[in-house]
Amino acid sequence: MSLKEDILRLKQQTDTLIMAHTYQPPEIIELADITGDSFALAKKARNIQQKNIILCGVRFMAESIKILAPEKTVILPAPDATCPMAEQIDPMRVKDYKEKNPNAIVVAYINTTAALKAECDVCVTSSSALTIIDKLDAPEILFIPDKNLGGFVKKKLPDKNIVLWDGYCPIHNALTEEDVLQAKKAHPNALLAMHPECPADCVKHADLIGSTAEIIRFAKESDRPVIIGTERGVADTLIPACPGKTFYYLAKEKLICPDMKKITPELVRDVLLGKAGETLELPEELRLRAKKSIDAMLRLGE
Ligand code: 13P
Ligand code: SF4
Repeated sequence: MSLKEDILRLKQQTDTLIMAHTYQPPEIIELADITGDSFALAKKARNIQQKNIILCGVRFMAESIKILAPEKTVILPAPDATCPMAEQIDPMRVKDYKEKNPNAIVVAYINTTAALKAECDVCVTSSSALTIIDKLDAPEILFIPDKNLGGFVKKKLPDKNIVLWDGYCPIHNALTEEDVLQAKKAHPNALLAMHPECPADCVKHADLIGSTAEIIRFAKESDRPVIIGTERGVADTLIPACPGKTFYYLAKEKLICPDMKKITPELVRDVLLGKAGETLELPEELRLRAKKSIDAMLRLGE
């Protein structure tokens, strides 16, 4: 029996569903029952029948699923798969800011720990940030932690008083304008789709700025070639999935999130056999406080 067949059988036997973020390698995407960007994964977590969920992604994504579906057993296959940006802020600093600015609203990018979400008012994802922040009414809105996504929203919503934190994704933020100009020069006929975690001097050249799911939709619907300006997992899956279309990588060797590449099919099989992975546990008090900001996101993001 092949590894894939083995995994499919074990999934059924153990009443397990596999969720995978779009940055996962193609061999993991192929095994998943649900794939999507952070927003889609969080939304779908509320309606899952299976008892167990294996989350192929990074820790904050597994935490978000556990926050929304506490009755499920949520397993992160690689316990050391974390998002460096999610860990960038000590929650005490946000608590301190709120005490000093009681009328401000604190918006947390979903790429944050549960402990950080618990100190914030509302979460957003890259696909829901504009819609949600546009609906907020406060004299000041603190956006944590990503200065690039926050800066993109601030530019689009000039009437809002948005204060930025100095955080960033170390992968997307390493992209330079030179990388972008080189790709455009190499593929003059192609459109450019980029993730808003990239720096402002890069995204200003893009034809679409959006979440991973929005980039995938744009690329599939485009009748012109598209340069995929985000973590390379998106292009790794898109290229073989759309043989009639032309997609190009942007800075292929640079846009790799090592944490997203820690999960392999062998590891997924071992999780199903009970030999690997970490079962997420969150103190109930923390879960409920973090849930408030995710619930606000789901309510305002529709
Ligand atoms: P999405 O919200 O587009 O899924 O992005 C998550 C992420 O980690 C981007 O680096
Ligand atoms: Fe975090 Fe960046 Fe990796 Fe996304 S690509 S999980 S933001 S480090």
